[in-house]
Amino acid sequence: MGMEYDRQSCKRYKKPGNGMDQDSNETDTRGASQVSAESCSDLQMTPEQMLDLAHRAIELVIERIEKLPQEGAWDGEFKQELEDQLMGLPPELGRPAEEVLEQAARKILPMASRHDHPRSFAFIPTSPTWPGVLAEFMTAAYAVNTATWLTASGPSQVELAVIDWFRRWVGYPDGAGGLLTSGGSSASVNALVAARENADNPQRAAVYMSDQSHSAHIRAARIIGIRPEGIRMIASDEHYRLDMEALVRAVMQDREQGLSPIAICANAGTSSTGAIDPLEAMAEFCEQEGIWLHVDAAYGGFAVVTDVGKQRLRGMERADSVGMDAHKWFFQPYEVGSLLVKDVTTLEKAFAVRHDVLQDTIWGANHPNFSDRGLQLSRSFRALKVWMSVQTFGMAAFRRAVSKGLELAERAEEFVRESPDLELMNPVSLSIVCFRINPAGAGLDEDALEKVNRAVLAHMFWDSPALISSTTLSGKFSLRLCILNYTTRWKDVKETLEAIVRFGREAQS
Ligand SMILES: Cc1ncc(COP(=O)(O)O)c(C=O)c1O
Repeated sequence: MGMEYDRQSCKRYKKPGNGMDQDSNETDTRGASQVSAESCSDLQMTPEQMLDLAHRAIELVIERIEKLPQEGAWDGEFKQELEDQLMGLPPELGRPAEEVLEQAARKILPMASRHDHPRSFAFIPTSPTWPGVLAEFMTAAYAVNTATWLTASGPSQVELAVIDWFRRWVGYPDGAGGLLTSGGSSASVNALVAARENADNPQRAAVYMSDQSHSAHIRAARIIGIRPEGIRMIASDEHYRLDMEALVRAVMQDREQGLSPIAICANAGTSSTGAIDPLEAMAEFCEQEGIWLHVDAAYGGFAVVTDVGKQRLRGMERADSVGMDAHKWFFQPYEVGSLLVKDVTTLEKAFAVRHDVLQDTIWGANHPNFSDRGLQLSRSFRALKVWMSVQTFGMAAFRRAVSKGLELAERAEEFVRESPDLELMNPVSLSIVCFRINPAGAGLDEDALEKVNRAVLAHMFWDSPALISSTTLSGKFSLRLCILNYTTRWKDVKETLEAIVRFGREAQS
């Protein structure tokens, strides 16, 4: 890596010590004070430097992927320790790029949950495919901005293609469309803006969701300006699905009191248990009442690529909008969510704003500017990761990978049901298993159960390679596995459950 640029001449030269090549100046005249507007930038690297550095980065990443199963699914450090290592003013002069890269790879990036670890079962993990990872890199390197058709016609067409795949999987008609988003949270903000505009922006708007809905929806409702009394949390039933009667009652009462229901948010897989709300009944009600139905399928949505999933999520296709995150159960790097609306013009009516400085970017009919469909102007090329992954592996492979999550969760449920130490907290509907230590005949009361299960969670955190998390169900502390990773095998799930049982016994002794 001896090549550098001479900043004045923009010519490449070999670093002193390696001998100068014939293109170079006699002396190295670089230095901030001497660099003119005609100079090469100090931020440039030679192709050789770029290649060497990229090569090293790839080596480090692949080394990590190979070693991952032998390591824990989590590592982290307290703030003081990290502050000592990482806080400080930015350096005035740089240091060797390899050194910076090694520091990132060895000291910074590992201090995090390894969401792609085969035993990463906490929260909602992801396991990115390699073509998806490379797409991220290429998108950044090509400096793509998918704000408008003019700035990114090829990438915009790929986004349209990917959105069209999602549209078909959901079962939406031809006129449906949407955009890729940073994730489920921004998809729900976009959806609620579209719902509000579609309802002519009433004064006292109300939005409905179950008490199991993701906090992203409460936040989205706040962001679009819904007053606290208009954010209506509807009770869920014994299996954590929205209670239809409670919803109907709330809407009717609110109407009598002068509120305007603008949207109902349904869950197609809650993040706590994977519960699926009564989608058909909710769609029926929303159609009758003229209320926008948004389905939060951020976690569960991609189950639709399988026959089983399609069956379980029936009714989703009747919603006005659906949010699905490819960075969850579609094996992509963060960030790629999506929002699909049944009538794409509703999105454009809500978001398109004319701006003189962008007047050259209007190509006309059928050449959408994606910035007219959501809150972002400058946007990355998220579609490439989905597109490259699917083109590389094919849908049959994706279908098998999604099915694997469903099957492993079913086997885990069976394990829990058969274990005398464990209690199933809710039947599995997708790929989340909620359960707790509750040994048959031990007669532990709720306080004791919570204590034992919290102890197990802590034990798992510090003393097991797996990462699991917890939730609260009807006031009861529950352990929880979310099985989404395409590299996870039954052995990973079974050994995690066995460790939980073992730690549970220790916690009671
Ligand atoms: C069901 C559900 N909805 C919404 C979200 C928010 O999505 P994001 O984190 O991509 O913004 C999540 C995140 O886990 C989720 O599980």
